Amino acid sequence: MNNSSKEERPKIENDIIDSNTKIIGNKIHTFDIVDSTNEEAKKLADKGVKEGTVIIAKMQKAGKGRLNRDWVSPKGGLWFSIVLRPDIGSEDSTKITMLAGIAVVESIRYYGIDASIKWPNDVLINGKKVCGILTEMRSHNKDVDYIVLGLGINVNFDLEELPEQIRSSATSLRYEVGRDVQIQGLLQQIITEVDYYYDILKSGESDKIVENWKKLCDTLGRNVKIKSLNETIEGVAFDIDDMGALSVKAGDGKIHKFLAGDCIHISSII
Ligand code: BTN
Repeated sequence: MNNSSKEERPKIENDIIDSNTKIIGNKIHTFDIVDSTNEEAKKLADKGVKEGTVIIAKMQKAGKGRLNRDWVSPKGGLWFSIVLRPDIGSEDSTKITMLAGIAVVESIRYYGIDASIKWPNDVLINGKKVCGILTEMRSHNKDVDYIVLGLGINVNFDLEELPEQIRSSATSLRYEVGRDVQIQGLLQQIITEVDYYYDILKSGESDKIVENWKKLCDTLGRNVKIKSLNETIEGVAFDIDDMGALSVKAGDGKIHKFLAGDCIHISSII
């Protein structure tokens, strides 16, 4: 059971906070440049590093996004991965992605900015993507051996540095806050939030994670277009289950359930 109430937890003041975490950030490996912090984290996890170990890089040469996409990671972003060894079945691993989304949204909100989650795991500000989350897992007989939680946040770099095709749908904290944001302070805040929610998950209260995630998710109640491997559907997103699967009611009244895919918010119906 997590004892510290949210109000007692440290908040950002002058961008610097003291993090006093139970697990996350007990060891931090910092690099100037790596191919991918997720890849570094997997190597370290294979060697048996303790859970909570954080790998952070100023730049990634071969950052990885969801669905095998590249993740462009110039200097001025926050690119990091966390090694986790939760005692959960692999079917529950989506809870880790969910708690990361909550942690990032809450951390950004401390800057007075209204961030929200877009299914399945993007963080948006004013409809534009500021953060992506890539969770990778190694499991054995359906039990999780380790999970690498990778987070990429556009913080202080110029959006012109992103490829043209994603530029118009991306934003950065610098752009939204109107000043440079101190990356170390942001990292500490997110680590503190991840630690808090990870503790809740470990206490067997994953329903609280799902509940919080739904509250912060901007996809529910919207007209959406979902592209999965098998189909592309337009309809109203009306529910998310405990596994993070999104239910969409198409124009013909048929219900489609998606565990993964790309989601475009078309319009709000509420
Ligand atoms: C997405 O496609 O939205 C997920 C992007 C995840 C990017 C982060 S940056 C840190 C970590 N290392 C990687 O190679 N990818 C993740």
